[in-house]
Amino acid sequence: MIFDRNEKKQVVALLGAGSMGTAIVRRIGAGKKILLGDISEETLKRVGEDLSRCGYDMKTLVVNALQKESIEAFARKAAELGPVMYFIDTAGASPNQASPEHIVNLDMVGTGYAVDAFGKVIAEGGAGLLISSQAAYMYPIPNDIELQLVNTPTEELKNVKFIQEVAMQNSGFAYMIAKRMNHLQAQRAAATTWRKRRARINSISPGVIVTPLAYDEFRASGEGYQAMIDASAAQRTGTSDEIAEAAAFLLGEHAKFITGTDLLIDGGVIASIRTGEFKLWL
Ligand SMILES: NC(=O)c1ccc[n+]([C@@H]2O[C@H](COP(=O)([O-])OP(=O)(O)OC[C@H]3O[C@@H](n4cnc5c(N)ncnc54)[C@H](O)[C@@H]3O)[C@@H](O)[C@H]2O)c1
Repeated sequence: MIFDRNEKKQVVALLGAGSMGTAIVRRIGAGKKILLGDISEETLKRVGEDLSRCGYDMKTLVVNALQKESIEAFARKAAELGPVMYFIDTAGASPNQASPEHIVNLDMVGTGYAVDAFGKVIAEGGAGLLISSQAAYMYPIPNDIELQLVNTPTEELKNVKFIQEVAMQNSGFAYMIAKRMNHLQAQRAAATTWRKRRARINSISPGVIVTPLAYDEFRASGEGYQAMIDASAAQRTGTSDEIAEAAAFLLGEHAKFITGTDLLIDGGVIASIRTGEFKLWL
């Protein structure tokens, strides 16, 4: 049975084939060629087969988002498949899953390499999306440091004094700073490399979304998360499908005037923190 006879298809490249990423490609991937990249062969096999059985045109590649060469090979593979119209980066580790160094290397430097690599292959009219976090709003970085970070090449980010001295203190700081850096990475690319290719790039900062990554957080800091959810306007966690809905908007036709920005989707958690309704346990 041939499900789709179209040969020339737009390409959707997803780095990190986890819960949110998969929901996003399901939402936008019909009639397109989907390239999944993940460090886990088992995840690629499971997700690739699952989506394939649902009628999506799938390709997979083992990618280590900690390694520049591996990410560049992923971007080249995407470009070989056709015009790369969509790039989504959800590869990440959360504070209770990894050391500060791993979080800085993956969530910050790895994302930087991916933005750089796809900035060389994204098609005209294409769109990118980085999955940041509500944590990006929890630790305001001084303006002069942000300016320094936004103008530092990806290779040198780890050498910045602020990263060495503040982000490396513990995994929580590493995560908050790495995720804020994702906003700056989208801004930088939107104004430079991606702009030159007439492509857009934005980020989404999800609140607590129930995924395997979130379960690791609940196991380690369940009471804190419960209090945070209870104090929020929504009074509940979110789902990957709600993130996918917003992602489809930001990546799609109706968002052509939106680039270099972040969309916070947190059920009101940051509003309750900013107004002092909820006291963060930092
Ligand atoms: N779930 C939440 O509550 C939440 C909230 C805010 C932000 N986020 C962020 O959203 C993103 C997606 O998270 P999720 O909840 O869908 O998690 P998930 O664990 O379902 O997906 C993450 C994927 O990244 C992959 N990955 C990890 N290290 C990798 C590497 N070195 N190279 C390539 N792939 C790698 C994993 O194998 C996994 O498939 C992450 O960046 C996370 O920090 C999650």
